[in-house]
Order: sequence, then C-alpha cells, then structure tokens
Amino acid sequence: MRRRLALGLALAAALVAAAARAQPAHRRGFAGAEGWARVFDDPARDQWQKPQQVIEALRLAPDAVVADIGAGTGYFTMRLAQAVPGGRVIAADVEPDMVRYVEQRARQMELANVTAVLASADDPRLPAAVDCVLLANTYHHIGDREAYFRRLAALLKPGATVAIIDHRPESPVGPPRSMRVPEEAVKAEMQRAGYLLSAEHDFLPRQHFLVFRRAAR
Ligand SMILES: C[S@@+](CC[C@H](N)C(=O)[O-])C[C@H]1O[C@@H](n2cnc3c(N)ncnc32)[C@H](O)[C@@H]1O
Repeated sequence: MRRRLALGLALAAALVAAAARAQPAHRRGFAGAEGWARVFDDPARDQWQKPQQVIEALRLAPDAVVADIGAGTGYFTMRLAQAVPGGRVIAADVEPDMVRYVEQRARQMELANVTAVLASADDPRLPAAVDCVLLANTYHHIGDREAYFRRLAALLKPGATVAIIDHRPESPVGPPRSMRVPEEAVKAEMQRAGYLLSAEHDFLPRQHFLVFRRAAR
C-alpha cells in the first residue's frame, strides 16, 4: 500500500515537472538559470546579437555605471563589466535564480564590478544612479511601461541613456509574436514616459535597437 502511494506521488511529481517544461517561457518564468544559459549563452547567438558592436554603440566611458535590466544569465552583463573596468554594472532581474547565477558567474570570471540585484516587476531597485540602462530582450516583459520608465528617470544621471533592444515582429526567434512590441510602439511609449529618441541602430538583423535620453523638464 505504502509502495503504491509512493509510486503514485512520484508519478504525479514527474507529470507536474513535465507540464512545467512544456509551458512556454513567458508562462513558466525564468527559473532554472543553468538551463536558460544553454539558450542565452549559446555561442551561435553572437552572430545575430553582435554583443561587441552593441556595446561599442553604447559609447560607454571606462568608468560608467551601467544597469542591465532583465540581465538573465548575464550575456550582456559580463561583457559590459569588461567594457567598464573602472565602473560598475548593476544586473537587475526579477528571477532570484538569475540573480544567483549572475553573482556566481561574475565571481568565476573575477569581475568584481558586477552587482546583481533582485528587481521587482515595477522597480529595478538599482542601488545607485546610472549613466546607461540596457534592456535587452526585456522591454516586452515590463507591465505598465509608461509608469516604469517615468520612475526610472529618478535613477538616471544627467545625460544618461536608456537602450532598448527587442525582437522585431518578423524575427524568426524571440518571444511569442503576441508579446513583441514593434519599434514604433516603443518610440511612442517612451515619448509618453518623457524620453527623446537619441539614436537608432540598424545593424541587428532580428531586433530593433533604440537609444533614448530623458527629455528636458
Ligand atoms: C529573455 S530574458 C533576456 C536576458 C538577457 N537580457 C539577454 O538578452 O540574454 C528576459 C529576462 O528579464 C527578466 N525580467 C522579466 N521581467 C522583468 C522586470 N520587470 N524587471 C527585471 N527583469 C525582468 C526575466 O527574469 C529574464 O531573466
């Protein structure tokens, strides 16, 4: 009897785990950082994500303070940290397992200028004012974006930039099409939140790459 109960419980647990795995990412969240690292840090991604070209386009001073909001496994965080050896990178994510993973990865790579913080859905909880914010493949996850970016303004140093990279509607990979935010909508939302478009880069084959600054008040 006890053996049958144990078998039943084990089968139920396996079914729950299988159902969780079968759900798309936007439904099951981003726990299981090691698994996501195989996707986000797949070297093949570099071909279309062009991380070094992205970082060059951000024109960061070597002592810049940068926030990587929705840092995930740190694909951009680690590269940014190498680009600002005298500065600091704040990697903010709502998923505790991503925060743990980024802390561990920065330690292993001996990047002492990385700080990982647990964000909430409506607040990146940055511990310091920043010169640049990067949201790579994360903008579409933010809920009330106008309120979010209005609040973020208080954490921007004068002249700071906010760079948004996200998949175009026609990209063959990326979030479900229903979640993608076309670049014209991003521009309109950011304008309503009090930002001006300051650069637009078209070298990424699958994503738009828009850079904003706070409009003068
Ligand atoms: C698709 S991943 C992108 C990861 C990384 N930026 C990259 O390009 O490899 C999106 C990440 O954003 C995080 N995220 C979702 N909503 C967020 C929010 N409101 N604030 C901060 N992070 C968020 C998720 O937990 C996930 O790690």
